[in-house]
Amino acid sequence: MAKARTNYVCQNCGAVAQRWQGRCEACEAWNSMVEEAPSAGIGARAARAAGKGRVFALEGLQGAHREAPRMLTGIGELDRVTGGGFVPGSVLLIGGEPGIGKSTLLIQACARMAASGRRVVYISGEEAVAQVRLRASRLGLAQTPVELAAETSVDDIIATLQTGATPALVVIDSIQTMWTDAAEASPGTVTQVRMSAQALIRYAKTSGACVIMVGHVTKDGQIAGPRVVEHMVDAVASFEGEGGRQFRILRAVKNRFGPTDEIGVFEMTGGGLAEVTNPSALFLAGRDGAAPGAAVFAGMEGTRPVLVEIQALVAPTSLGTPRRAVVGWDPARLSMVLAVLEAHGGLRLGQHDVYLNVAGGLRIDEPAADLAAAAALVSSLCGAVLPGDSVFFGEVALSGAIRPVAHGGQRLKEAAKLGFRAAVAPEGSLEGQEKGPLALTPCGHIAALVADIAARAPARSRSGEGNGERAVPRARDGAREGASRAF
Ligand code: TYD
Ligand code: MG
Repeated sequence: MAKARTNYVCQNCGAVAQRWQGRCEACEAWNSMVEEAPSAGIGARAARAAGKGRVFALEGLQGAHREAPRMLTGIGELDRVTGGGFVPGSVLLIGGEPGIGKSTLLIQACARMAASGRRVVYISGEEAVAQVRLRASRLGLAQTPVELAAETSVDDIIATLQTGATPALVVIDSIQTMWTDAAEASPGTVTQVRMSAQALIRYAKTSGACVIMVGHVTKDGQIAGPRVVEHMVDAVASFEGEGGRQFRILRAVKNRFGPTDEIGVFEMTGGGLAEVTNPSALFLAGRDGAAPGAAVFAGMEGTRPVLVEIQALVAPTSLGTPRRAVVGWDPARLSMVLAVLEAHGGLRLGQHDVYLNVAGGLRIDEPAADLAAAAALVSSLCGAVLPGDSVFFGEVALSGAIRPVAHGGQRLKEAAKLGFRAAVAPEGSLEGQEKGPLALTPCGHIAALVADIAARAPARSRSGEGNGERAVPRARDGAREGASRAF
């Protein structure tokens, strides 16, 4: 039999090493490695002697199966993110910074589920029962039959849950406060969190209850400690928001039972979290359409079109290496768009700081945002205000060409609904789709975009920033022969 070896587990990121190290090689945290007996880990059973395994039957892909049944909470934005309701026997991890509203969202979901006649249990490891009650009564939910407890021992919790009818929903707030006798490490450590999560997952799978675990995130946005927990659960959602702003975005990060690109938008009000069914209006609120450097992007978040403003500031730098800062978008994508603007749009940005911001705290992952970002950048550089009634979408290729993206019709429909009159997008964006209610202004090349925006610039800034090198080409330098006017 193989000799059992002790492992050292990083309490910060969960990395496993064979030898003790002062500094974790994975996350570079100091003094975070803790010895763990092999019997405590996930691979504990692998140490079982060879030849002792039980033989089981293998099956084919065809055969009896059931569509996972769903439990709707009635909170539309939450049901959208879970892919149409909670699945019995599944485990959902909801991550978010402290104070973002995880407990509020979950007590509201519990109340709705309990009100519909299901057994719902809410276990708080952080707050006393009285505190949970106080919040519920503030939210007007005190009359709903949610069963409460303030407990942190997973063994006790599971033993309690196994008496009486199996609950439809169990909320564990939070997984970081849980501990089990099966692990020797102290509560809050990666080992404890992982073992507790394992026990709760086993409970969910065997009983058919849906378990929701709250996970705190560290300052760099990771669900604290156990990335391993993310692998074990069926779905992971992250609850995000910006300091000072009242709205919150619930985003599916992983989902074994549905799509992962859906978002739910909520607003934190005096009476708890309220659903925001028209997020575009929220993201565009307070927009200053008369300032250069802002372009409205007609995006898609999952199955729903969302309009959002992309803001850019391009200004001469006072540093040797110009700054590139971006919030809400991929920095690599920004570098690529800047490179294409330089190579094919004739812009000189080597002496300019570039800042890009997606308004409202939304994070965009779509390549379709390239065109809107490029328009905002050129608009800021030239000091040219973009037409306030236009939206932009399209993917920028390295050749400078602008390529069509999917769902053109839906994007246009949403833009029309919010009062926009035109859309700048590559030709072919509506191919195979019903004609949208908006006029499509075709824009096929980045050079055409630069030329058109430069032509809108007030006369004094049209020559660029005047520090020796021209930042903006004369209109005819940039425009390709035969390139059509976009707007
Ligand atoms: P909470 O759900 O406790 O956050 P988390 O569980 O993620 O740590 O939410 C706390 C914040 O929400 C707190 O700062 C107050 C605010 N809040 C409201 O604005 N309105 C409300 O009705 C409630 C219950 C909370
Ligand atoms: Mg909480």
